[in-house]
Amino acid sequence: MSQILAATAKSDLAATQFVVRKDDLTQIRFEDFTLHADDLQPEQILVKVDSFAFTANNITYAELGGKMSYWDFFPGSDEAWGIIPVWGFADVVASRHPAIAVDERIYGYFPMATHLVMQPVKLTDSGFIEGMPHRAKLPPAYNSYLRITTEPAFAETFQPYQALLRPLFITSFLIDDFLADENVFGAQTVVLSSASAKTAFGLAHLLHRRKDITLVGLTSAGNRAFVEGLGCYNRVVTYDQIAEQPMEDAVYVDFAGSADVRRAIHEHYGDSLKYSCAVGLSHREMNPPGKGLPGPKPLFFFAPDRIVKRSKDWGRSGLESKLNTAWADFLPLLQGWIRVIRGDGRAAVEATYRATLAGRVKADEGHILSLWE
Ligand SMILES: NC(=O)c1ccc[n+]([C@@H]2O[C@H](COP(=O)([O-])OP(=O)(O)OC[C@H]3O[C@@H](n4cnc5c(N)ncnc54)[C@H](OP(=O)(O)O)[C@@H]3O)[C@@H](O)[C@H]2O)c1
Repeated sequence: MSQILAATAKSDLAATQFVVRKDDLTQIRFEDFTLHADDLQPEQILVKVDSFAFTANNITYAELGGKMSYWDFFPGSDEAWGIIPVWGFADVVASRHPAIAVDERIYGYFPMATHLVMQPVKLTDSGFIEGMPHRAKLPPAYNSYLRITTEPAFAETFQPYQALLRPLFITSFLIDDFLADENVFGAQTVVLSSASAKTAFGLAHLLHRRKDITLVGLTSAGNRAFVEGLGCYNRVVTYDQIAEQPMEDAVYVDFAGSADVRRAIHEHYGDSLKYSCAVGLSHREMNPPGKGLPGPKPLFFFAPDRIVKRSKDWGRSGLESKLNTAWADFLPLLQGWIRVIRGDGRAAVEATYRATLAGRVKADEGHILSLWE
């Protein structure tokens, strides 16, 4: 077996991770530790996490960390503190894998940290599965990594948009597919909450291309102009205007997870609400009501489950090819909508984390972070 160890990684490496208190997300700390590249086991690689995106989705990972196992991807040493998973890019700095060279760049699910030790299995030219035993029970969608060194769609200019929107757009694509599969439950109107959120406007972009659907984007007053500027919603409505909407058969796709907004939608549409799809919690309310609401019971949409279903129906390559076609259409629009803001080092990571937690990030901002100063 060939062993390729980077010269720089032969000695001890100073590493850092950002952790949050699981029961109080306002408490954070940076933990420093030492990695020994010589401890790498056969077939393992050590990657340097170069940059990652941070959006409301990552806050939801933390809110649901215990319930939905998000803390289990990158377990730390202290049970009370958790490492939030993020989507981004990493470079291989040491390798004991025969087919992965130092300097390869990969895209996928990483810890908010400077480094990660990985155990690639099922290697192909385009990617691999993370084979660390503790990851085996977790949803496969999060264990899949892309080798991007030669992939033109991952050219450097697009990398921030890939990190920021690609994982969210997969959900947008899957909800669009789900609604089409169900013939939009017989409704002509689809109402999206947190219409300014990246996952929501990805869905709006896709639904907008389907004929005979009226798209209503619900948002807060401060994000109204941004949502109107996207040009993919037929009507943009603030949260206090729900009761003024025309009565029509509708489907609700909820990215906000707000109890008050959900109740207002169900009370307004009543039996005309044909489906209530709970997707997100951007407004950070943990238990929006399901019981006692008029209309259908809200049902949770979990993208990784739909990926498993469509991988069976279409094959993995069938799903990837449909998704890549849709993504190639969406990607060029993003430079006009999202300003990429880069933040390097501890202070930037903490500031963006706190702003995202408090809902202070503007809808047209896309934050790319790194723990490297
Ligand atoms: N179920 C799944 O499989 C799945 C998959 C992907 C994403 N999601 C969920 O979809 C949601 C959106 O994620 P994203 O990354 O697309 O969001 P994002 O782009 O970061 O969303 C930003 C928008 O969310 C609202 N918002 C964010 N933080 C807030 C706060 N603290 N208080 C009030 N409003 C806040 C605001 O929208 P408005 O002013 O328009 O309300 C804001 O413009 C997340 O909860 C995410 O976990 C779920």
